[in-house]
Amino acid sequence: MRVVEVTAYGGPEVLSMARRPEPEAGDVPGKVRVRLKAAGVTVADLRIRSGMYVDAIGGLRPPFVLGTDFAGRLLDPAGDLPAGARVAGFMPWFDELTGEGTYAEVVRVDPAWLAPLPEDVDFTVAASVPLAAITARQGLAKLALPEGSTLLVTGASGVVGRFAVQLAAAAGLRVVGVSYEGDEHELKVLGAQHVVPRGDPAKVLADVLAYAPERVDGVFDGALLGTPVLAALKDGGRFVSLAADRTPTAERDIEVHTVVGRPDAAALTGILEQVAARELITRVADVMPLEEAAEAHRRAESGHRPGRIVLMI
Ligand SMILES: NC(=O)c1ccc[n+]([C@@H]2O[C@H](COP(=O)([O-])OP(=O)(O)OC[C@H]3O[C@@H](n4cnc5c(N)ncnc54)[C@H](OP(=O)(O)O)[C@@H]3O)[C@@H](O)[C@H]2O)c1
Repeated sequence: MRVVEVTAYGGPEVLSMARRPEPEAGDVPGKVRVRLKAAGVTVADLRIRSGMYVDAIGGLRPPFVLGTDFAGRLLDPAGDLPAGARVAGFMPWFDELTGEGTYAEVVRVDPAWLAPLPEDVDFTVAASVPLAAITARQGLAKLALPEGSTLLVTGASGVVGRFAVQLAAAAGLRVVGVSYEGDEHELKVLGAQHVVPRGDPAKVLADVLAYAPERVDGVFDGALLGTPVLAALKDGGRFVSLAADRTPTAERDIEVHTVVGRPDAAALTGILEQVAARELITRVADVMPLEEAAEAHRRAESGHRPGRIVLMI
Protein backbone atom coordinates (compact mmCIF):
# COMPACT_ATOMS: atom_id res chain seq x y z
CA MET A 1 0.00 0.00 0.00
CA ARG A 2 1.03 3.63 -0.43
CA VAL A 3 2.08 5.56 2.64
CA VAL A 4 3.88 8.83 3.30
CA GLU A 5 6.90 8.35 5.53
CA VAL A 6 8.87 10.83 7.61
CA THR A 7 12.33 9.78 6.44
CA ALA A 8 14.30 12.02 8.85
CA TYR A 9 13.49 15.01 11.07
CA GLY A 10 13.36 18.25 9.13
CA GLY A 11 11.28 20.38 6.77
CA PRO A 12 8.41 19.20 4.55
CA GLU A 13 10.94 17.72 2.10
CA VAL A 14 11.56 14.81 4.50
CA LEU A 15 8.09 13.46 3.66
CA SER A 16 8.34 10.79 1.02
CA MET A 17 5.96 8.32 -0.64
CA ALA A 18 6.79 4.70 0.14
CA ARG A 19 5.19 1.28 -0.13
CA ARG A 20 4.53 -0.90 2.88
CA PRO A 21 2.74 -4.26 3.17
CA GLU A 22 -0.98 -3.85 3.71
CA PRO A 23 -2.16 -4.97 7.18
CA GLU A 24 -3.98 -8.31 7.19
CA ALA A 25 -7.26 -9.10 8.91
CA GLY A 26 -6.69 -9.95 12.58
CA ASP A 27 -2.91 -9.52 12.44
CA VAL A 28 -3.04 -7.28 15.53
CA PRO A 29 -5.54 -8.55 18.12
CA GLY A 30 -8.27 -6.04 18.96
CA LYS A 31 -7.64 -3.89 15.90
CA VAL A 32 -9.70 -3.64 12.71
CA ARG A 33 -8.65 -2.22 9.36
CA VAL A 34 -10.00 0.89 7.66
CA ARG A 35 -9.37 1.68 4.00
CA LEU A 36 -8.86 5.43 4.15
CA LYS A 37 -10.34 8.03 1.85
CA ALA A 38 -9.05 11.08 3.69
CA ALA A 39 -6.63 12.09 6.45
CA GLY A 40 -6.25 15.44 8.20
CA VAL A 41 -2.95 17.33 8.50
CA THR A 42 -2.70 18.48 12.11
CA VAL A 43 -0.35 20.90 13.85
CA ALA A 44 1.10 17.95 15.80
CA ASP A 45 2.06 16.30 12.48
CA LEU A 46 4.13 19.36 11.56
CA ARG A 47 5.84 19.40 14.92
CA ILE A 48 6.57 15.67 15.00
CA ARG A 49 8.08 15.88 11.51
CA SER A 50 10.28 18.82 12.53
CA GLY A 51 11.76 16.84 15.44
CA MET A 52 10.19 19.09 18.09
CA TYR A 53 8.69 16.06 19.88
CA VAL A 54 11.66 13.75 19.58
CA ASP A 55 11.77 13.25 23.37
CA ALA A 56 8.03 12.62 23.61
CA ILE A 57 7.98 9.80 21.10
CA GLY A 58 10.28 7.47 22.99
CA GLY A 59 12.18 4.99 20.88
CA LEU A 60 10.23 5.68 17.70
CA ARG A 61 12.58 6.99 15.00
CA PRO A 62 12.16 7.71 11.27
CA PRO A 63 11.03 6.25 9.01
CA PHE A 64 7.49 6.37 10.40
CA VAL A 65 4.04 7.39 9.20
CA LEU A 66 2.28 10.48 10.58
CA GLY A 67 -1.42 11.12 10.82
CA THR A 68 -4.21 11.21 13.39
CA ASP A 69 -7.57 12.13 11.80
CA PHE A 70 -9.12 9.74 9.31
CA ALA A 71 -12.25 8.89 7.35
CA GLY A 72 -12.81 5.83 5.20
CA ARG A 73 -14.53 2.45 4.95
CA LEU A 74 -14.18 -0.49 7.32
CA LEU A 75 -12.46 -3.53 5.85
CA ASP A 76 -13.40 -5.68 8.87
CA PRO A 77 -16.58 -5.62 10.96
CA ALA A 78 -16.27 -3.59 14.18
CA GLY A 79 -18.98 -4.15 16.79
CA ASP A 80 -22.29 -3.13 15.20
CA LEU A 81 -20.55 -1.67 12.16
CA PRO A 82 -20.27 -4.07 9.19
CA ALA A 83 -17.37 -4.28 6.78
CA GLY A 84 -17.87 -1.54 4.20
CA ALA A 85 -19.38 0.94 6.68
CA ARG A 86 -18.31 4.57 6.33
CA VAL A 87 -16.44 5.62 9.48
CA ALA A 88 -14.36 8.46 10.88
CA GLY A 89 -12.21 8.91 13.96
CA PHE A 90 -8.81 9.78 15.23
CA MET A 91 -5.87 7.68 16.21
CA PRO A 92 -4.23 8.73 19.50
CA TRP A 93 -0.86 8.75 17.73
CA PHE A 94 1.21 9.64 20.81
CA ASP A 95 -0.41 6.92 22.93
CA GLU A 96 -0.04 4.27 20.26
CA LEU A 97 3.48 5.19 19.06
CA THR A 98 3.35 2.49 16.38
CA GLY A 99 4.46 5.01 13.76
CA GLU A 100 1.63 3.70 11.58
CA GLY A 101 -0.49 6.82 11.22
CA THR A 102 -3.18 7.84 8.79
CA TYR A 103 -1.07 9.12 5.87
CA ALA A 104 -1.68 5.64 4.43
CA GLU A 105 -4.14 3.66 2.35
CA VAL A 106 -5.04 1.26 5.17
CA VAL A 107 -4.72 1.68 8.95
CA ARG A 108 -5.39 -0.54 11.92
CA VAL A 109 -7.67 1.10 14.47
CA ASP A 110 -9.32 0.29 17.76
CA PRO A 111 -13.09 -0.07 17.23
CA ALA A 112 -13.51 2.29 20.23
CA TRP A 113 -12.15 5.16 18.08
CA LEU A 114 -14.78 4.76 15.36
CA ALA A 115 -17.94 6.72 14.68
CA PRO A 116 -20.29 5.91 11.80
CA LEU A 117 -20.14 8.61 9.15
CA PRO A 118 -23.50 9.93 7.95
CA GLU A 119 -24.04 9.45 4.21
CA ASP A 120 -24.17 13.16 3.43
CA VAL A 121 -20.85 14.04 5.07
CA ASP A 122 -17.98 13.74 2.59
CA PHE A 123 -14.89 11.82 3.65
CA THR A 124 -12.75 14.94 3.19
CA VAL A 125 -15.08 17.02 5.36
CA ALA A 126 -15.20 14.26 7.98
CA ALA A 127 -11.39 14.10 8.21
CA SER A 128 -11.32 17.73 9.38
CA VAL A 129 -13.49 17.01 12.40
CA PRO A 130 -12.50 14.25 14.87
CA LEU A 131 -9.43 15.42 16.85
CA ALA A 132 -10.36 19.10 16.79
CA ALA A 133 -14.02 18.73 17.72
CA ILE A 134 -13.39 16.15 20.43
CA THR A 135 -10.55 18.20 21.93
CA ALA A 136 -12.78 21.30 21.95
CA ARG A 137 -15.57 19.35 23.62
CA GLN A 138 -13.27 17.77 26.22
CA GLY A 139 -11.58 21.13 26.93
CA LEU A 140 -14.95 22.77 27.50
CA ALA A 141 -15.97 19.88 29.77
CA LYS A 142 -12.89 20.56 31.90
CA LEU A 143 -13.93 24.20 32.22
CA ALA A 144 -17.48 23.16 33.18
CA LEU A 145 -18.70 26.76 33.10
CA PRO A 146 -22.35 27.41 33.95
CA GLU A 147 -24.68 28.77 31.29
CA GLY A 148 -24.34 32.54 30.91
CA SER A 149 -20.62 32.56 31.79
CA THR A 150 -18.23 34.54 29.62
CA LEU A 151 -15.59 32.47 27.82
CA LEU A 152 -12.54 33.83 26.02
CA VAL A 153 -11.41 31.58 23.14
CA THR A 154 -7.93 32.34 21.78
CA GLY A 155 -7.06 30.93 18.37
CA ALA A 156 -10.77 31.19 17.59
CA SER A 157 -9.96 31.13 13.84
CA GLY A 158 -8.13 27.83 14.26
CA VAL A 159 -9.60 24.39 13.68
CA VAL A 160 -10.02 23.57 17.38
CA GLY A 161 -10.96 27.17 18.20
CA ARG A 162 -13.87 27.22 15.73
CA PHE A 163 -15.34 24.11 17.31
CA ALA A 164 -14.80 25.58 20.79
CA VAL A 165 -16.66 28.76 19.76
CA GLN A 166 -19.61 26.80 18.34
CA LEU A 167 -19.90 24.24 21.16
CA ALA A 168 -19.57 26.92 23.84
CA ALA A 169 -22.18 29.16 22.22
CA ALA A 170 -24.54 26.18 21.88
CA ALA A 171 -24.04 25.50 25.61
CA GLY A 172 -25.21 29.03 26.42
CA LEU A 173 -21.83 30.66 27.08
CA ARG A 174 -21.09 34.24 26.04
CA VAL A 175 -18.10 33.76 23.75
CA VAL A 176 -15.38 36.32 23.10
CA GLY A 177 -13.02 35.17 20.36
CA VAL A 178 -9.44 36.28 19.70
CA SER A 179 -8.94 35.75 16.01
CA TYR A 180 -7.40 36.70 12.72
CA GLU A 181 -8.92 40.06 11.78
CA GLY A 182 -10.66 38.97 8.57
CA ASP A 183 -12.52 36.16 10.33
CA GLU A 184 -14.64 38.36 12.57
CA HIS A 185 -17.86 38.00 10.61
CA GLU A 186 -17.53 34.25 10.26
CA LEU A 187 -16.87 33.80 13.98
CA LYS A 188 -19.94 35.83 14.81
CA VAL A 189 -21.99 33.59 12.53
CA LEU A 190 -20.53 30.61 14.42
CA GLY A 191 -21.73 32.07 17.72
CA ALA A 192 -19.10 34.47 19.07
CA GLN A 193 -20.68 37.53 20.67
CA HIS A 194 -17.56 39.62 20.33
CA VAL A 195 -14.32 39.23 18.40
CA VAL A 196 -10.98 40.81 19.23
CA PRO A 197 -8.16 40.85 16.66
CA ARG A 198 -5.07 38.80 17.49
CA GLY A 199 -1.82 40.68 18.06
CA ASP A 200 0.27 42.13 20.84
CA PRO A 201 -0.88 40.48 24.12
CA ALA A 202 -1.27 43.82 25.93
CA LYS A 203 -3.53 45.14 23.14
CA VAL A 204 -5.56 41.90 23.09
CA LEU A 205 -6.02 42.13 26.84
CA ALA A 206 -7.06 45.78 26.64
CA ASP A 207 -9.62 44.93 23.92
CA VAL A 208 -11.04 42.05 25.97
CA LEU A 209 -11.32 44.20 29.09
CA ALA A 210 -13.00 46.97 27.11
CA TYR A 211 -15.74 44.47 26.20
CA ALA A 212 -15.81 42.56 29.52
CA PRO A 213 -14.56 45.00 32.20
CA GLU A 214 -15.56 42.53 34.92
CA ARG A 215 -13.16 40.04 33.19
CA VAL A 216 -14.04 36.62 31.85
CA ASP A 217 -15.05 33.44 33.70
CA GLY A 218 -13.06 31.08 31.53
CA VAL A 219 -10.32 30.89 28.91
CA PHE A 220 -10.04 28.23 26.21
CA ASP A 221 -6.47 28.83 25.03
CA GLY A 222 -6.57 27.49 21.48
CA ALA A 223 -3.61 29.69 20.42
CA LEU A 224 -1.39 28.51 23.31
CA LEU A 225 -0.84 32.09 24.50
CA GLY A 226 -0.41 30.92 28.11
CA THR A 227 0.46 33.21 30.99
CA PRO A 228 -0.32 36.62 29.41
CA VAL A 229 -3.99 35.64 29.04
CA LEU A 230 -4.44 34.88 32.76
CA ALA A 231 -4.92 38.61 33.36
CA ALA A 232 -8.20 38.44 31.40
CA LEU A 233 -9.65 36.02 33.99
CA LYS A 234 -11.59 36.81 37.13
CA ASP A 235 -10.19 35.58 40.45
CA GLY A 236 -11.25 31.94 40.74
CA GLY A 237 -11.81 31.67 36.97
CA ARG A 238 -10.98 28.60 34.88
CA PHE A 239 -8.35 28.15 32.18
CA VAL A 240 -7.77 25.28 29.79
CA SER A 241 -4.71 24.93 27.57
CA LEU A 242 -4.18 22.59 24.63
CA ALA A 243 -0.53 21.95 25.51
CA ALA A 244 1.07 21.02 28.83
CA ASP A 245 4.19 23.09 28.13
CA ARG A 246 2.05 26.20 27.51
CA THR A 247 -0.17 25.79 30.56
CA PRO A 248 0.42 28.66 33.01
CA THR A 249 0.97 28.33 36.73
CA ALA A 250 -2.21 28.97 38.68
CA GLU A 251 -2.66 32.30 40.48
CA ARG A 252 -5.56 34.13 42.20
CA ASP A 253 -7.45 30.83 42.81
CA ILE A 254 -7.70 30.28 39.06
CA GLU A 255 -8.21 26.60 38.13
CA VAL A 256 -5.75 25.64 35.40
CA HIS A 257 -6.22 22.57 33.21
CA THR A 258 -4.57 20.96 30.21
CA VAL A 259 -6.64 18.91 27.80
CA VAL A 260 -5.35 16.03 25.71
CA GLY A 261 -8.03 14.91 23.27
CA ARG A 262 -8.93 11.24 23.72
CA PRO A 263 -11.11 9.22 21.35
CA ASP A 264 -14.79 9.12 22.36
CA ALA A 265 -16.85 7.27 19.78
CA ALA A 266 -20.23 8.22 21.28
CA ALA A 267 -19.36 11.92 21.38
CA LEU A 268 -17.93 11.82 17.85
CA THR A 269 -21.05 10.08 16.56
CA GLY A 270 -23.15 12.98 17.89
CA ILE A 271 -20.74 15.57 16.49
CA LEU A 272 -20.80 14.03 13.01
CA GLU A 273 -24.60 13.97 13.12
CA GLN A 274 -24.49 17.69 13.95
CA VAL A 275 -22.09 18.26 11.03
CA ALA A 276 -24.53 16.37 8.76
CA ALA A 277 -27.40 18.54 10.04
CA ARG A 278 -25.26 21.69 9.47
CA GLU A 279 -25.58 22.47 13.17
CA LEU A 280 -21.80 22.37 13.47
CA ILE A 281 -19.69 23.93 10.77
CA THR A 282 -16.26 22.61 9.88
CA ARG A 283 -13.91 24.19 7.43
CA VAL A 284 -11.50 22.48 5.04
CA ALA A 285 -8.74 24.81 3.86
CA ASP A 286 -7.45 22.56 1.05
CA VAL A 287 -7.89 19.04 -0.25
CA MET A 288 -4.70 17.58 -1.71
CA PRO A 289 -3.68 14.12 -2.88
CA LEU A 290 -1.64 11.96 -0.49
CA GLU A 291 1.28 12.28 -2.90
CA GLU A 292 1.39 16.01 -2.15
CA ALA A 293 1.79 15.64 1.61
CA ALA A 294 5.02 17.66 1.56
CA GLU A 295 3.27 20.56 -0.19
CA ALA A 296 0.37 20.21 2.27
CA HIS A 297 2.83 20.65 5.16
CA ARG A 298 4.40 23.68 3.43
CA ARG A 299 0.99 25.29 3.11
CA ALA A 300 0.05 24.44 6.69
CA GLU A 301 3.23 26.18 7.87
CA SER A 302 2.83 29.22 5.68
CA GLY A 303 0.70 31.30 8.07
CA HIS A 304 -2.99 31.99 8.53
CA ARG A 305 -4.98 29.24 6.82
CA PRO A 306 -8.41 28.76 8.38
CA GLY A 307 -9.52 25.17 8.31
CA ARG A 308 -7.87 21.79 8.11
CA ILE A 309 -5.76 20.72 5.15
CA VAL A 310 -6.99 17.27 4.19
CA LEU A 311 -5.13 14.60 2.20
CA MET A 312 -7.30 12.64 -0.20
CA ILE A 313 -6.20 9.02 -0.40
N1 LIG B 1 -4.22 18.81 23.37
C1 LIG B 1 -4.71 18.23 22.30
O1 LIG B 1 -5.21 17.11 22.33
C2 LIG B 1 -4.69 18.99 21.01
C3 LIG B 1 -5.54 18.62 19.98
C4 LIG B 1 -5.55 19.38 18.81
C5 LIG B 1 -4.69 20.47 18.71
N2 LIG B 1 -3.86 20.76 19.74
C6 LIG B 1 -2.97 21.93 19.66
O2 LIG B 1 -3.81 23.05 19.75
C7 LIG B 1 -3.33 24.11 18.95
C8 LIG B 1 -4.43 24.55 17.98
O3 LIG B 1 -4.69 23.51 17.06
P1 LIG B 1 -5.48 23.81 15.72
O4 LIG B 1 -5.61 22.55 14.99
O5 LIG B 1 -6.69 24.61 16.02
O6 LIG B 1 -4.41 24.75 14.98
P2 LIG B 1 -4.68 25.97 13.99
O7 LIG B 1 -5.82 25.68 13.12
O8 LIG B 1 -3.35 26.29 13.40
O9 LIG B 1 -5.13 27.13 14.99
C9 LIG B 1 -4.23 27.84 15.79
C10 LIG B 1 -4.78 29.24 15.88
O10 LIG B 1 -4.02 29.99 16.81
C11 LIG B 1 -3.79 31.27 16.25
N3 LIG B 1 -2.59 31.89 16.78
C12 LIG B 1 -1.32 31.46 16.68
N4 LIG B 1 -0.49 32.30 17.30
C13 LIG B 1 -1.25 33.28 17.82
C14 LIG B 1 -0.99 34.45 18.56
N5 LIG B 1 0.25 34.77 18.96
N6 LIG B 1 -2.04 35.25 18.92
C15 LIG B 1 -3.29 34.92 18.57
N7 LIG B 1 -3.61 33.84 17.83
C16 LIG B 1 -2.60 33.03 17.46
C17 LIG B 1 -3.66 31.03 14.77
O11 LIG B 1 -3.97 32.23 14.12
P3 LIG B 1 -3.74 32.46 12.54
O12 LIG B 1 -4.83 31.67 11.89
O13 LIG B 1 -3.91 33.90 12.37
O14 LIG B 1 -2.36 31.95 12.26
C18 LIG B 1 -4.72 29.96 14.54
O15 LIG B 1 -5.97 30.53 14.27
C19 LIG B 1 -2.09 23.56 18.24
O16 LIG B 1 -0.96 23.97 18.95
C20 LIG B 1 -2.25 22.06 18.34
O17 LIG B 1 -1.04 21.36 18.35
C21 LIG B 1 -3.84 20.06 20.89
